[in-house]
Amino acid sequence: MNISVIILAGGAGSRMKSSIPKVLHRICGKEMLFFTIDEALKLSKDVHIVLYHNADVIQKRILKAYPKHKLSFHIQDYANYPGTAGALMQGAESSQNAKNAKMPFSTKYKELLILNGDMPLVSAKTLEQLCAKKAKIIMSILHLDNPNGYGRVVLKGGKVEQIIEQKDATNAQLSIKDVNAGVYKIDRALLESYLPTLTNDNKQGEFYLTDVIYKARRDNIDIEALSVEESEFIGVNDKVALAQAESIKLEALRNAAMEQGVIMHLPHTIYIESSVIFEGECEIEQGVQIKGNSVIKSSHIKAHSVIEDSTIDSSDIGPLAHIRPNSTISHSHIGNFVEVKSSVLDNVKAGHLSYLGDCEIGSGTNVGAGVITCNYDGKKKHKTIIGKDVFIGSDTQLVAPLKIESSVLIGAGSTITKNVAKGELVLSRVSQKHIKNGYFTFFKKP
Ligand code: UD1
Ligand code: CA
Repeated sequence: MNISVIILAGGAGSRMKSSIPKVLHRICGKEMLFFTIDEALKLSKDVHIVLYHNADVIQKRILKAYPKHKLSFHIQDYANYPGTAGALMQGAESSQNAKNAKMPFSTKYKELLILNGDMPLVSAKTLEQLCAKKAKIIMSILHLDNPNGYGRVVLKGGKVEQIIEQKDATNAQLSIKDVNAGVYKIDRALLESYLPTLTNDNKQGEFYLTDVIYKARRDNIDIEALSVEESEFIGVNDKVALAQAESIKLEALRNAAMEQGVIMHLPHTIYIESSVIFEGECEIEQGVQIKGNSVIKSSHIKAHSVIEDSTIDSSDIGPLAHIRPNSTISHSHIGNFVEVKSSVLDNVKAGHLSYLGDCEIGSGTNVGAGVITCNYDGKKKHKTIIGKDVFIGSDTQLVAPLKIESSVLIGAGSTITKNVAKGELVLSRVSQKHIKNGYFTFFKKP
């Protein structure tokens, strides 16, 4: 589209009560601001991000996540011009008088789409529909049973009269349920014509973008207010809204997975992140969490298992298994209380109570209950390589670095510290002693 997108992300986010910058809080594993940037990039090649509070941290994270995109960053002159309009102002006469104020950066296009950085669920598709409207100013209205936190929209004859921020509202105004969603399409010249007329004469001492709407209405400028849904336009100011936004996102992610053919039991208890990919027909039971860049192919993930940044192919996992990052598990059975980390398992059975870290296990191998790879010596992590058709008896400790060739039998309760050659039977147990009547000697009554 021939439109420049400006994302406002300079605010303090104080209602979040957090050491993490508000726009970097995550929803389904992804930073709120990154959702907005992704959608903005679908709409325009000219995307601007205004930062101030924690600008360094936020900019670094954006640059890392978007190494190939050309995004323009601007640091707000917050000391002189705080507020959502302040984010777009420079050169005013004084902080009380905005005379001479101009936008501090140029844009490629005349039309601007201005987005708040704290509305992570809005889609490019909806924004495109919004921008397609003809009015000079387009904004969006949410109708909420609980309008808390938002600017209230005073409507007269169906038209926007004014937007009153919660902190500036009278009790009567606070009961208004039509609120400003915080998205605007406006012609740059029109916006710039209003910037010098703004004041920060309000409870927050800020220059409000919403005052531009009020002034434009007074001048009979054509303003179109679109009715939008909270499921896309929720604004996140605090941790309650953060959790609400995440629930909305989760429901959408789960529904998309189910529509694609994934079976989900008690879906509302299942947590999946936006980067997770499902292929084939998968079955996911209640309480499962699947995080990061995980790929689940034709697999059954049983109740309360956690999978992080791993690939699971044609396998069944859990209940109550923990698959930690960088694991690739195919054609395998992983049972309860098994933890796998940075390991490659192919056609393996590990049914109960194991820790398999930094290992490779070949096809046909059976891992008995309680088998532990001792992969960490207190300084470094070491690998355990296990071949095909190995039978590892229960309660075996495999002290890494270690290589076990194919077709090996390891006796239960062994501590294996040396490499094992093909075909060997190894065990490291102390031999069993029998002491006749030992029980009676031990418990002898005085
Ligand atoms: C704003 C709107 C409100 C609307 C709500 C929708 C104003 C004055 N109010 O209120 O009508 O209902 O969004 O979610 O516009 N920001 C800056 N620089 C600043 C201040 C804020 O870049 O100096 C950024 C913030 O980082 C944030 C966005 O602008 O991403 C909105 O700011 P916020 O303080 O959250 O505004 P609200 O009080 O939610
Ligand atoms: Ca907000």
